[in-house]
Amino acid sequence: MFFFKRAFCARSNRSSQSRLRNPHKCAMHSVSFFAAVLSLLSPLGWSQPAGAQSAPAAIRYDSSTRVFRIDAADVTYAFGINEKEELQSLYWGKRLAINDPLQAAHRRKGGSSFDPDVNVTPQEMVGWGGGLYVEPDVKITFPDGNRDLVLHYLDHTIEANALIVRMKDIQRDVFVTLRYEMNTDTGILARTARIENKTQTPLTVEEAEAATWNLPASRDYQLSYLTGRWAGEWALQHQAINPGKTILESRRGSTGDESNPWFAIERGNHSDEDNGDVWFGALGWSGSWQIAIEKNYAEQVRVTGGFTPFDFSYRLAAGESLQTPTFYGGYSHDGIGGASRLLHRFELNALVPQAPHRRLRPVLYNSWEATEFNVDEAGQEALAEKAASIGVERFVMDDGWFGQRKDDHAGLGDWYVNPVKFPHGLKPLIDKVHALGMDFGLWVEPEMVNPDSDLYRAHPDWVLNFTGRPRSEERNQLVLNLARPDVRAHVFEVLDKLLSTYDISFLKWDYNRNWSEPGWPAVAPEDEKRVYVAYVQNLYGILRELRAKHPGVEIESCSGGGARVDLGILGLTDEVWPSDNTNAFDRLSIQDGFTYAYAPGLMMSWVTDSHKSTSLEYRFLSAMQGSLGIGANLKDWSPANLDTARKMVAQYKQVRPTVQDGALYRLISPRDGSEYSVTESVSADLHQAVVFAFLHSSPMSYAAYPRIYPRGLDEKAVYRITALDGQLARETPAAASGAFWMQAGIDVNLWADFQAAAFTLQKEGE
Ligand code: DGJ
Repeated sequence: MFFFKRAFCARSNRSSQSRLRNPHKCAMHSVSFFAAVLSLLSPLGWSQPAGAQSAPAAIRYDSSTRVFRIDAADVTYAFGINEKEELQSLYWGKRLAINDPLQAAHRRKGGSSFDPDVNVTPQEMVGWGGGLYVEPDVKITFPDGNRDLVLHYLDHTIEANALIVRMKDIQRDVFVTLRYEMNTDTGILARTARIENKTQTPLTVEEAEAATWNLPASRDYQLSYLTGRWAGEWALQHQAINPGKTILESRRGSTGDESNPWFAIERGNHSDEDNGDVWFGALGWSGSWQIAIEKNYAEQVRVTGGFTPFDFSYRLAAGESLQTPTFYGGYSHDGIGGASRLLHRFELNALVPQAPHRRLRPVLYNSWEATEFNVDEAGQEALAEKAASIGVERFVMDDGWFGQRKDDHAGLGDWYVNPVKFPHGLKPLIDKVHALGMDFGLWVEPEMVNPDSDLYRAHPDWVLNFTGRPRSEERNQLVLNLARPDVRAHVFEVLDKLLSTYDISFLKWDYNRNWSEPGWPAVAPEDEKRVYVAYVQNLYGILRELRAKHPGVEIESCSGGGARVDLGILGLTDEVWPSDNTNAFDRLSIQDGFTYAYAPGLMMSWVTDSHKSTSLEYRFLSAMQGSLGIGANLKDWSPANLDTARKMVAQYKQVRPTVQDGALYRLISPRDGSEYSVTESVSADLHQAVVFAFLHSSPMSYAAYPRIYPRGLDEKAVYRITALDGQLARETPAAASGAFWMQAGIDVNLWADFQAAAFTLQKEGE
C-alpha cells in the first residue's frame, strides 16, 4: 500500500537530560493547606483568610450567597446554587479581586413558552429531563421507561486541592458527583463527573459528559479547532460561532485525527496570537468522544464534552457507577498564543507521567523509513553505528522484527522475535546499541492482530466483531477487544515479558486503524456497548501497570501518525508521533497546528529523505522545533551529510531545553499559503531564546524576508545574538537589550526557495 510505503514511511546520555524544576510544586502543597483551612471556615460567608488574596489557589464557598469560587494563577471560576437547586455557572475568566461581588445565582427567564428557563440557565451539569433541548450532560433510561432526570445540588466537600459537589435526581437515587481541580500554575481546571446508580434496579446511561463550560452572551465569539487526516493532521480551523450547534467528534473507538478533542474560543475581533480573551479546553480521553459547541437564541455559548452519545449505552447495575473522562478548561488573557503556552506548561509540568521532573527527550533514530519491514541484525547494527556517530542518543527498531512479519499481511499479535532476522534474539543488537552509547527502543502494536497470525488462529473470538458478520480489515489487521479481561491480561503479559527479557528503554506504541463492527459477543447484549469505555480503561490500566513495573521505560503514543494524541494518553506516555508526513516543509504547518494544543517538547520530529531536494540544514531546522529524531537511511548519507547531521545534532543539544520546555511564540504562521514560518522558544528563566525561520518560495527574489520581532524576553537584560544556521543581516548588532530586540527586530538573509535560518539570543554572562 503506497501510503505505508512512502511515509509510514537512546541507553540515555543521562548527563544531557537535565531535569526540570517545577517552581510551583510547593504551591500545590500550600493550596492543600489553604483549601483545608477554607473548608473549615466555609459556613461563615467567604471563607478566605485576610490577606490571602495572593495565595496560589483557593476553593471557597460562600454560604450566604451559595456561591463556589475557585481561584488559581490568573483565573477565577465561579458557580452557584440557584433557587431551583441547580448548579449555575457564574464566572470563568481573568482572576477577580477577592472582594469582587459574585452575586447569588438566579434562574434565567426563557423568552417564551417555547423556551423553557432550563435552556437559558447556564448549568454546570444538567440531566435530560423537564424541557431540556440543549445537549444534556447525562441522559438515562430507567427500566420502567421513565427517562426524566433532574439533577439538584445535594452537598459538597473540599478535599485538598479539589472541590467535590454531589447532585441527585429529584426523586430517584441517581447521584452525579462532580469534581473540580484547578492547576495552581496555569489555572487550568480539570472537571469530571461520576454517575452512580443507588436505586435497586439497573438503569441505562445513554449520555455521559464530563462537564459543560458556559460563556456569557456575546455576538462575536470565534471558535478554533483541529482537524486532519492520515499524513495531513493538525489543520487549524477557525470560524465564527453562530446560533446553532457544532459537533467535534470521534466515532472511531479512539481519539482519531479527523478531529482532535481540543477547542479554543476567542472573544471579539480584538484578539490575536498574543492579546485578547481566550477560553480553551481539551478532553482527557482516548476513545470515542464528543465536544458540542452550542449557541442559543440568547447568544449564550455552552461547550459540553465527554463520551460521544453516538452508539453509547452503559448499563449500570444497582450500586455501580460510571466515571466520565476529564474535561480540562482554561482561560488566557494573552490571546491564543497565551492559551497554548498555558496548555504546554500544564502538560509538561503537571500531566505527563514524569511531571514535574520530566527528562528531556533524547535525540532518537528510527529505522522505519530506512528499512520498513526489512529489519535484521546486521542491517540494524550498521544503522546504529551511523546513528551513534552523529550524536543520536536512542536507537529505535520499528516494525518487522517479530512473528512472520515480512510486510503488513502477517505477524501482528505474535510478539516473539523472528528467528530468521534475529537468530540470537534481540540481545546482540541491544548490546551493540548500548556499547555505542545509546539506549534501545522497540516498536509494538499490541492492540492489533493480523488474521494471518498464531494469535488469531488460536483466538478468533478475541477481536471486535458482531457474530456471523464480516470482519472489516484495514491494513490487513483487526482490532483486539481490549475490553475483554483475557485480552487485557494477554497484552500485558506479552509486553511485560518483552520488557523483562530485554533491556528496552522505550516503546513506540503504534495503533494503525480505527474500529469497525464494535461488537463484544461474549457479554450480554445490553452490555456490549460498554466496550467503548472498558477498552480505553483497560488500555490505560495496561500502560499504568507497565510503567509501575518497568519505571525506566518511556512510551511514545503513535497511531499511524497523530491519530491518538489527547490529554488522556499523555497522562500515561512520554511523547507522541504527530504525523507520518515527514516532509520538512509540510511539517511546518503540521507542527504549527499541533502546538495550538500540545507542547513542542512532546512532539517527535524526524529528519528524513522525504523532500530530499531541500537542504539537510532546512530539514534539520524544521525538525529541531520539536523533539529531534532522525528517520533517514543513514547508510545512504554521504560523509559530508553525516558531518552536517553531526553539527546540527550538536546545535540542537545546545538549545534543546529551551525548545522542549520553553515558552513557544508562533511569530509568523506557515498556514494559509504563507511563504514564511517563524517560531521562537524562550527558556523559563528567560536566559535563552531560539528562533527558527523558514522561507517557502520567493518568486521575486529581491523581496525582503519580514523582520522578526521576538517576544517574551527580559526587556532590561542584554542578549547576545548568535546564528546557529543561516545568516543574519550584516548590520545586526552583536548584543542588545531584550527591549531592543523586541522593538527593533531582527533581519535574516533568506531569499531563495526552501531556505532556513536559526539563531539564539543568550543573556550576556550566561
Ligand atoms: C505507522 C507509524 O506511524 C510509522 O512511523 C511506522 O511505525 C509504521 N506504522 C510501521 O508499521
